[in-house]
Amino acid sequence: MPTKILMVCLGNICRSPLAEGILKSKLPTDTFEVDSAGTGGWHAGEHPDKRSILTAKNHRIDISNQRARQFKLADFQNFDYIFAMDNSNYKDIIRLAPDEASKSKVRLILNELYPGENIPVPDPYYGEQNGFEQVFNLLDEACDIIANKLKTHHI
Ligand code: 4NP
Repeated sequence: MPTKILMVCLGNICRSPLAEGILKSKLPTDTFEVDSAGTGGWHAGEHPDKRSILTAKNHRIDISNQRARQFKLADFQNFDYIFAMDNSNYKDIIRLAPDEASKSKVRLILNELYPGENIPVPDPYYGEQNGFEQVFNLLDEACDIIANKLKTHHI
């Protein structure tokens, strides 16, 4: 059974598609699966935002085939680790959690990089291209740490 990781933001078109692509690029595909979802469903079925696709491409990661979907209850069973991009995503997921085991799977992603600081990945949707580059760099650093922990079973 592969270890399964889910990245979650609001729309699943800007931040979590980048997080999915970045973490995938750092893990062996035979033993790990990475997916992403949005707490909101407005963009379900859409490809990632063009600016996320371009930012990933500039770092030699292809996320253009991803499709947005809404976070669902079954995700608590289907995934081992659930990483929220910001505090409102975190609260929304925790609110849906049916039990303590589900709650314990949920983490704020930048707490891997800045433990205990509860720093959000800023939502770049209403900003410019350089906001997406900043998001990429934050997620790249966090995913380095996450990938190393996952590979050594110390998460
Ligand atoms: P994301 O960004 O949560 O990083 O995918 C957003 C995308 C769309 C919206 C909000 C945030 N929206 O309101 O449509």
